[in-house]
Amino acid sequence: MDRLPGLTITVEQLIKEALEARKAAYAPYSGYQVGAALCTKTGKIYRGCNIENASYGATNCAERTALFKAISEGESAFSGIAIVGSKAGMLPREYAFPCGICRQVLSEFVTDRFYVIVAKSTTDYQLYPFNELLPYGFKGESIQ
Ligand code: THU
Repeated sequence: MDRLPGLTITVEQLIKEALEARKAAYAPYSGYQVGAALCTKTGKIYRGCNIENASYGATNCAERTALFKAISEGESAFSGIAIVGSKAGMLPREYAFPCGICRQVLSEFVTDRFYVIVAKSTTDYQLYPFNELLPYGFKGESIQ
């Protein structure tokens, strides 16, 4: 059973949390429900789901929901995030990669040893170091 590097929590546990998080998705417009589970360096998990809006543009993705929950609770050190996505009533058929905005927002708070797990189930997943998903990103250092 794979463990998240440096942590006692298993990848399977984090994916289970993401699958649970997906159940709260508010996606009446796209019908595409996403769940994310963000793990802190101390092993605490913050769940997030997508929250759509009639304006479409005001929609918040699952990853950012989880991250904003964690940041607003005072967390600042993260080890990984698991993401699952699929149409309502269906099991995930594809890996749900984080969108560009979520990658950019995550990049503000994560370090070299942060991992993104995209999953179809607790046993079928891919794990990526964050910098593979956003190489050459725009960071705060650029505007210091
Ligand atoms: N969505 C996420 O929650 N995360 C992503 O990284 C990509 C897209 C949501 C937004 C919208 O509610 C639905 O998926 C379809 O785009």
